Amino acid sequence: MEIYLDTADIDEIREAVKMGVISGVTTNPSLMQRAGRGDYRQVTQEICYLVHGPISAEVVGTEAGQMIEEAMEIALWSPYVVIKVPITTGGLEAISTLAETELDADNICQGCEWMDDCPLDRDMAREMALMQGIRTNATLAFSTNQALLAARAGASYVSPFVGRLDEIGHEGMAVVAEAAQIFAMYGLETEIIAASIRHPLHVTEAALAGADIATVPYAVLQKMVKHPLTNIGVERFLDDWKKVSP
Ligand code: E4P
Repeated sequence: MEIYLDTADIDEIREAVKMGVISGVTTNPSLMQRAGRGDYRQVTQEICYLVHGPISAEVVGTEAGQMIEEAMEIALWSPYVVIKVPITTGGLEAISTLAETELDADNICQGCEWMDDCPLDRDMAREMALMQGIRTNATLAFSTNQALLAARAGASYVSPFVGRLDEIGHEGMAVVAEAAQIFAMYGLETEIIAASIRHPLHVTEAALAGADIATVPYAVLQKMVKHPLTNIGVERFLDDWKKVSP
């Protein structure tokens, strides 16, 4: 199972990238607000430059037409961008339309201030964009049926919100497990991102339930690293070494 970071905070992303454990990032308007950033394009392009993996950026329109229009624009920010679309009637229409829509790849990475330093030159970016098409992450999935519909509509990813379900007394991880079982049974290629992760145990459970990816807040990632016995072990090794080292 891959690990994505669930944040729009550039400092957190830089720290996680250094550890070499994250392969993508998910953002949303609330995470942008929390990071104090309103410049969605610039932030997303910087994250793409830092991570070189799938970076989800969310549409804010509510009608299919608006979502498609926004998505066509966002998809040009970088070939790493994945368009996050909520699972509503209009959202499913947008997802299925985008799955069939060709990207204007000649205009990929327009206005990216990281372009000169990016190992991905414009030709590579163009080729990558053409190969992938417009990828979507069907977000705000709270039931197995919603996940199934997202997959049928042609979403590249679907994100069951585990923590928010747990908080209202449902078993969020059951959606991940059931979707994983159904997708495997019927050969559906949509990848499952366990989202709304609240603690390290959620990450272990997501991996065991068959999620392809867990997207975790930075605080949870830090907790995953730590174990008191590791700290005690390091201290003991250092103390012992001091006793014998010249
Ligand atoms: C996932 O892509 C979402 O950004 C995220 O996990 C939202 O979860 P939360 O707002 O419940 O933390």
